[in-house]
Amino acid sequence: MRQRILSEGAKELSYEIREIVKKADALKKIGKEIYWENIGDPIQKNNEVPVWMKEIVSNLVLDNKSYAYCPSKGILETRQFLAELNNKRAGAQLSPEDILFFNGLGDAIAKVYQFINSGLRVIGPSPAYSTHSSAEAAHAHSDPITYKLDPDNHWYPDLDDLYNKVKYNPNIIGILIINPDNPTGMVYPLETMKRIVEIAKEFNLFLISDEIYLNITYNGAHAYSLAEVIGDVPGLAMKGISKELPWPGSRCGWMEFYNRKKDVEFDRFCSALENAKMIEVCSTTLPQMAIPRIMSDPRFWPYRTEMNNKIGRRSKIIAGILGVVPELRFNETYGAFYNTIIFKEGVLNERQHLKVEDPKAKALVESWLDGNEKVDSDKRFVYYLLASTGICVVPISSFCSDLRGFRVTLLEENEELLQKTFTRLREAIQEYLKSA
Ligand SMILES: Cc1ncc(COP(=O)(O)O)c(C=O)c1O
Repeated sequence: MRQRILSEGAKELSYEIREIVKKADALKKIGKEIYWENIGDPIQKNNEVPVWMKEIVSNLVLDNKSYAYCPSKGILETRQFLAELNNKRAGAQLSPEDILFFNGLGDAIAKVYQFINSGLRVIGPSPAYSTHSSAEAAHAHSDPITYKLDPDNHWYPDLDDLYNKVKYNPNIIGILIINPDNPTGMVYPLETMKRIVEIAKEFNLFLISDEIYLNITYNGAHAYSLAEVIGDVPGLAMKGISKELPWPGSRCGWMEFYNRKKDVEFDRFCSALENAKMIEVCSTTLPQMAIPRIMSDPRFWPYRTEMNNKIGRRSKIIAGILGVVPELRFNETYGAFYNTIIFKEGVLNERQHLKVEDPKAKALVESWLDGNEKVDSDKRFVYYLLASTGICVVPISSFCSDLRGFRVTLLEENEELLQKTFTRLREAIQEYLKSA
């Protein structure tokens, strides 16, 4: 090529959550049964969408309007419905004009960092849901800037770390929170959120809150929305239907802009996001038509409560199995449907392994470990676990973290299989740690 095509930031765009699937597929091809504990898609984990929801969608399919483009910002009645839903809670109030639809939050995340001046940064949590950290780093042509979530304090944010990083880096112009969090399953306490808002106010920053799991909490937890605590600080929340309905294939999510008119720069930023969507024409129409019909149905909230209770029960089962391993730092989860489990310092080494009976699977795992680049110690464990037991989890080093561990999901519908899989996982951890 005449010139180098790729920008520096392009190398930040990797998505291990999907990369590990390629390895699992290679094992599946040679006959290994795979237990998918890596996927954040309830449907792929056999969650049945209730018939009444499917009927609402089927009726909309018969409506010619659902095949059309919709207004660039999104269907007005749906934005009115969502604004009213927000305005029932005390806190920042919305008009339908403060809502902007996207083709899933993946689309919203890709756009939100794109229009920030490339020298300026948004600080986010570590471990991080890598779609945010990769997109932010790609925009800045640099490594992500992060504040610590502390595994020794329920995965709550280390607020001193956040404060100091913000204070000493004038290029930080925004703070990201993911509440409830992927990958840790932590729910931000109210006091913590209030403190983060205070920090944003002190340094004149804006806030981004990814709330795709806002209504997925359990075992006594409650997640506060950004709107409830933001006061007069500018900010935006990202919400969607991929997890709560669940309908990830609809590719439908939205942003809510709070206190937009309180800051000229922030208002311009929101307008740039709206203009970007206008250039694209609009986002998916059918799911937008479905949102008010599904969410105002009297069966919706009982359905969500039942699903949350199930996830909460699975969280307890997993805690009972993995919470007793002394070499792990384990936290119970209270929101979303993931748990991040960390190996204590010094327990992993480069000689540990698991017995892989099948010679073809053994050859595969050895080929994954045999590259020029050093493989992170948690990836090494994850690859052996996959080849030996078929259990597929995601290494935590790929979530923008220096910690070593892995992320599991809490989506297995069959409790007996859940017990069996996590008991096998515990045995594999113990075997691996003892092997060298
Ligand atoms: C925290 C978080 N934000 C956003 C997304 C993306 O959601 P969508 O399906 O709307 O693109 C996910 C998906 O797993 C997520 O975990």
